[in-house]
Amino acid sequence: MTPVLLSSPLQGFTDFRFRNAFHHYFGGIDTFYAPYIRLQGKMVIKNSYQLDLAPENNSTLDIIPQVMTNDPDEFLFVVKYVQSLGYNELNWNLGCPYPMVTKSGMGSGMICQPAKIDDVLHKAHNESDIVVSMKMRMGYENPEEILDTFPILDKYPLKNIAIHARIGKQLYKGPVDLDAFEKCVTATKHKLYYNGDITSVKAFKEISKRFSTLDHFMIGRGLIADPFLPSMIKNNTEEYPKNRWEIFSEFHDTIYQQYDEYLSGPTPIKMKMQGFWQYFAETTSNPHKTFKAIKKAQNPQKYRQAVDKILRTEMEFG
Ligand SMILES: Cc1cc2nc3c(=O)[nH]c(=O)nc-3n(C[C@H](O)[C@H](O)[C@H](O)COP(=O)(O)O)c2cc1C
Repeated sequence: MTPVLLSSPLQGFTDFRFRNAFHHYFGGIDTFYAPYIRLQGKMVIKNSYQLDLAPENNSTLDIIPQVMTNDPDEFLFVVKYVQSLGYNELNWNLGCPYPMVTKSGMGSGMICQPAKIDDVLHKAHNESDIVVSMKMRMGYENPEEILDTFPILDKYPLKNIAIHARIGKQLYKGPVDLDAFEKCVTATKHKLYYNGDITSVKAFKEISKRFSTLDHFMIGRGLIADPFLPSMIKNNTEEYPKNRWEIFSEFHDTIYQQYDEYLSGPTPIKMKMQGFWQYFAETTSNPHKTFKAIKKAQNPQKYRQAVDKILRTEMEFG
């Protein structure tokens, strides 16, 4: 069975520039989730979200927009917005772990509130014909919270529930809890997608073997750290293409150029690329040295020199 691979959204990383370049150079992803839209009290869609979802910026890819809210009216507002752009599905984020979000009862802080979840889903299904899918953790405090939420979720014709097999309290630390995830598999009528720590072909094989009834897998950080991972999973190989670093180099230059045009001044582009290199470095031969070299580069010329040196080293020894 060929797995369906989905790109799990990372706010600040997987915007349309990244997605388009990724798809062009590496492939292997069937559908990309866009990072969440958050309204922050006003019924206004921020410009950066508008750009990210604009059909002309997503003409070659299959994209699913996402929202993070606990308010039925906000949800419906975003439904109308994405429908006006031609999307027919909206993914709902009940996974975000950050205290600023969870303390206001959103993201993974909402999983333990089935009645509020019901309110949002009721309005969405009563007042629109959008297809709703979910992306959630198993709870905030403990992984049983989701089990109490399933009866509510089961009332609605959700397309699927993607589960990041952690709880909110963990943030991104500690291992995924596969035993708790296993309990979810039989506890809902909905189709589940697995998400969490697919960072290698080996890790993918172990997870897909254990959960052999699942055929949809979401990859987030692993796909930035190793952009070849999805296509290697699809081709069932652990071999990189011979020109691995040449391809990576072209990809890097493509996103650099686009972010450089979009962001003004040397500091924002430096911070943007440093963010990416925190992940890219992980699959170089010396992650610590690689990231240190990037951090040390204080201006665009020095950054270019650092990248060239890193890639030369990888091409020689990689
Ligand atoms: C910096 C960062 C930003 C994220 N932004 C989002 C987001 O916008 N929406 C979402 O559903 N998940 C978001 N996530 C969670 C990831 O999509 C994913 O569920 C999580 O990292 C676990 O999967 P992974 O181990 O494959 O990365 C974010 C994670 C990180 C580290």
